[in-house]
Amino acid sequence: MRCPVVAPRVAAQAGSPAGPVPVERLTARRAALLARVGHGVVVVRSAESRPDDAHAQDSDFRQDDDFFYLRGLEESSALLVGVAAGGGGASGGSWRLYLPERMPAREQWTGARLGPGAEAMALTGIGDVRSVQRLAGDAAGLLGSGGDSTALRVGGAAPRGCTGREGPCTDALLGPVLAAARGRIGSLDPDMAQLRLVKDVDEIARLRRAGAITTAALSEALAAAEPGEHEYELEAVIEAAFRRGGAERVGFPTIVGSGPNSTVLHYDRNRRLMQAGDLVVMDVGAEFGYYTADVTRTIPVSGEYTPRQRAIYDLVLGAQQAAIDSVRPGSSLMQLENIARRYIETHSGSSCGPESCERYFIHGLSHWLGMDVHDVGPYTTPLRPGMVLTVEPGVYLAGEALGVRIEDDVLVTATGHEVLTSDAPRAAAEVEKEMRSGRSRRAGVK
Ligand code: GLY
Ligand code: MN
Ligand code: MN
Repeated sequence: MRCPVVAPRVAAQAGSPAGPVPVERLTARRAALLARVGHGVVVVRSAESRPDDAHAQDSDFRQDDDFFYLRGLEESSALLVGVAAGGGGASGGSWRLYLPERMPAREQWTGARLGPGAEAMALTGIGDVRSVQRLAGDAAGLLGSGGDSTALRVGGAAPRGCTGREGPCTDALLGPVLAAARGRIGSLDPDMAQLRLVKDVDEIARLRRAGAITTAALSEALAAAEPGEHEYELEAVIEAAFRRGGAERVGFPTIVGSGPNSTVLHYDRNRRLMQAGDLVVMDVGAEFGYYTADVTRTIPVSGEYTPRQRAIYDLVLGAQQAAIDSVRPGSSLMQLENIARRYIETHSGSSCGPESCERYFIHGLSHWLGMDVHDVGPYTTPLRPGMVLTVEPGVYLAGEALGVRIEDDVLVTATGHEVLTSDAPRAAAEVEKEMRSGRSRRAGVK
């Protein structure tokens, strides 16, 4: 293959549909981190690129969440180093970015990279960008003084799968820094989790877009679903809509489970031929600018729920609504879960035999949502404005091949909550209506 020499300027997030994270957000996040840790040095590793041979593409490179959160760059084999000056506060420290040297011959294959030096400083606004080769020499100066019990906190990507083809592996680069810390080493993960638990305005905007792309895709899937299609055909409708909407990737493997597969929580093979009368659980999430949605709708592939399916569906929907109604500052995930379970207990009637359907609600109600679909942060933290969680009750009757899950993404606000994913039809009658109109549209164009 002949390749042109490429020399484009590399800007952070160039060409990304989400655009770059605003510099003032990144600065505020880094200041908040140093204020939180108070003293010592923090190191955040980027993800490593993993091409599988000398010239292959790494088609699934994704930056480490913590690195992206603090720096907004998609460079691999890089290290971000922060030095807390002590005492915290907005001016309480400084930051350096260590990047691998550029490799022009390699860039002809995989595109331009940001290298250390003046160009990187100009393009990123970062005042101190050094070659990774300098880290060993800098280690003693960074960590040599002070008797802190934890002088160094290490976070970011777990060191695995590095081939060394895009630059030295961060694991090897960190060796001298770890040695200079002389055992006074801790994990940065708990501090990052606390920061990421409360989303800022840019994060909320990204989650909102991820939700909008996902609900639009689900609406398309409702309109397209028919007996006689394979689960993967619905998957294709959904993921095509994600990419058209500007999603970079899925936030987790798309789940389209029909009939018996509707009762398998994380079924993602999506191979079955859907048959008349099946329920289909679609649990999907577009990732937009590193933030993912996580939405589930359960639909009757024939277009109408049977009375039995409808009874279970309405039970799950009622439980979800009861929990959503209670999302507000001060409440907790445990309280929401109890509310949903109590609703199912008290509204099951004889739907699940002598016992309530609650025993078929076999997973948790909620998880945090953000850069990761099961986002970081302790589950015991009381809700605060800016937190984002899922609310997703389900009832799974394997003996009847009947599984129902309904899931939405909810932002905690100062006065209560906002459902970020309310645009996808949710009430049974709305789902059926959307399916009917999809069929009429298809019949009109046939
Ligand atoms: N989509 C995975 C989950 O809901 O946890
Ligand atoms: Mn979920
Ligand atoms: Mn889900």
